[in-house]
Amino acid sequence: MRTITSARLVLRPWEAGDADFLLDLEGRWEVVRYLGAHPRTMTSRSQALASIERRRAISGHPVHGIWIITDRDGARLGNLLLKPIPLSAGEVPAHPADVEIGWQLHPDAWGEGYATEAALAVSIDAFVRGQRRIIAVTHPGNYASQAVCRRIGMRHVGATTRYMDTPCELFELTQDG
Ligand SMILES: CC(C)(COP(=O)(O)OP(=O)(O)OC[C@H]1O[C@@H](n2cnc3c(N)ncnc32)[C@H](O)[C@@H]1OP(=O)(O)O)[C@@H](O)C(=O)NCCC(=O)NCCS
Repeated sequence: MRTITSARLVLRPWEAGDADFLLDLEGRWEVVRYLGAHPRTMTSRSQALASIERRRAISGHPVHGIWIITDRDGARLGNLLLKPIPLSAGEVPAHPADVEIGWQLHPDAWGEGYATEAALAVSIDAFVRGQRRIIAVTHPGNYASQAVCRRIGMRHVGATTRYMDTPCELFELTQDG
């Protein structure tokens, strides 16, 4: 899988050696509380290793990916994903499939603009590679994440129940604006 860089950041594939960081990241309720219909903290290193294996499994895709975000010195900061989004039960898939962008930063790295910078770098890379539309869904109360959506130029579409069996606010970014 490709590595993507920006002014301050490097986004590279997750590796087994990142397991302790992933456990520290997703072991925190403030990081996972808005993720999906039934958020749960990660509780063991073996869960982290299994999750890293799953993250690496989509690494062959030319556009999609799940990257660890580090700074230019390699310090680990968080996670950035771009991949088809799970639909709610009974929803009919779109063609092409709805592709979501998502982010989780370690609380020590909040407030620095890293999520915005990483999401912009991945969005630009995806559009250059032919992606036409990227969506983001947030928990209705996740104002920090909604602010990131707006900072990268996403349009607020409105409330939806189409994804992940839970009510979300939907944002979209299209190549042609
Ligand atoms: C959502 C989340 C990633 C937002 O993190 P964040 O650090 O607030 O987001 P940004 O990267 O955009 O940083 C924004 C802050 O950095 C500041 N900033 C922006 N660019 C900057 C730069 N170049 N240099 C320094 N600071 C900068 C902004 O002023 C802003 O601060 P403010 O909130 O006080 O105005 C973080 O809250 C998180 O990981 N939450 C848990 C996981 C989660 O909910 N994920 C989303 C699921 S949908």
